[in-house]
Amino acid sequence: MAVPLFASSLEPYRPRLDEALARVVKSGSFILGPEVAAFEQEFAVYLGVRHCVGVANGTDALAIALRSLGVQPGDEVVMPSLTFFATAEAAVDVGAVPVFCDVDLETACVTAETVRAALTPKTKAIVPVHLFGNVAPVPELRELGLPVLEDVAQAAGATLGDRKAGALGDVATFSFFPSKNLPCLGDGGAITTDSDEVAEHARRLRFHGSRDKVTFEEVGYNSRLDELQAAALRVLLPELDGWTDARRATAAEYERRGLGEHVTPLRAVEGAGHAYHLYAVRHPRADELAARLGEHGVAARGYYRAPVHRQPAMERFGAGADLPVTEELAATNLALPMGTQLSAEAVGEVVDACASGST
Ligand SMILES: Cc1ncc(COP(=O)(O)O)c(C=O)c1O
Repeated sequence: MAVPLFASSLEPYRPRLDEALARVVKSGSFILGPEVAAFEQEFAVYLGVRHCVGVANGTDALAIALRSLGVQPGDEVVMPSLTFFATAEAAVDVGAVPVFCDVDLETACVTAETVRAALTPKTKAIVPVHLFGNVAPVPELRELGLPVLEDVAQAAGATLGDRKAGALGDVATFSFFPSKNLPCLGDGGAITTDSDEVAEHARRLRFHGSRDKVTFEEVGYNSRLDELQAAALRVLLPELDGWTDARRATAAEYERRGLGEHVTPLRAVEGAGHAYHLYAVRHPRADELAARLGEHGVAARGYYRAPVHRQPAMERFGAGADLPVTEELAATNLALPMGTQLSAEAVGEVVDACASGST
């Protein structure tokens, strides 16, 4: 049996998606209409925050959120290097300076200690990334006294204590890219916050820096979540908690079948309800293991082998960064199959393949 890395499918939801998309086409309203307004309201209620602002993708969400927080050109923004490139790209886009900090070996998330080591008098914001569906310890980061922007692109559905990821910091950003835990049917993103001021600024920035399309108060973006994507998200949002439960059941099945005897699974941050966007483990010869798993029909992939601070486009900001744990995780992480539709039998095949391939 071939076991894919992303074992999720929207096929069961197709009739309801078709119906929702047809409703939008029939309405003739495609930009900033009732579907976006309703989704923003529903997602804010789901997360337990006051505001949600739908935007075109998770990268724009980060740039707009940084500016809405008041980050100015030349300001430093502390973030992990072990993340998708977009986290740092957005900071550079707004003229800020990404300062890369290290992460914890067991969780792959930043900690108060790793962030503190990167702070300077020029730091204006901290951007923890909830990597692979884990949740960085945001309450501890907030104690450092700077605004915290959660990058929740990979962790919709995750929790920390009794709060949802995306409701922990001063502002948070989501991506609804099709492979994400809450997907749409193309590109989409959102910004969430309890701050009236940040929300109002983000709304203006997503619409060319204007409130009324007459006066343009600042140079912004054309970055709206569109009506078709919002309608699809309204069909899929009610499924998110069930999907997250299915992902957690798969993680528990990996554990039950003894995966930890062959590889070292990353662990959830203390108090976190992990959303398992990816199921990541560590292995000293991760790429060799991936090749062996491939021979058994099991897909596996190492993420961020060249972390952001070593990307050519970030040379200006990353040169000289000393991030030993990031380097170790970049070399040794391996994502194993995960998704909302992975059978216990398929999990068994992955564990068996790891048993024969990890020695
Ligand atoms: C951690 C992280 N931040 C930001 C993004 C950017 O999201 P988008 O692809 O919607 O622009 C991604 C997407 O992969 C991501 O994984």
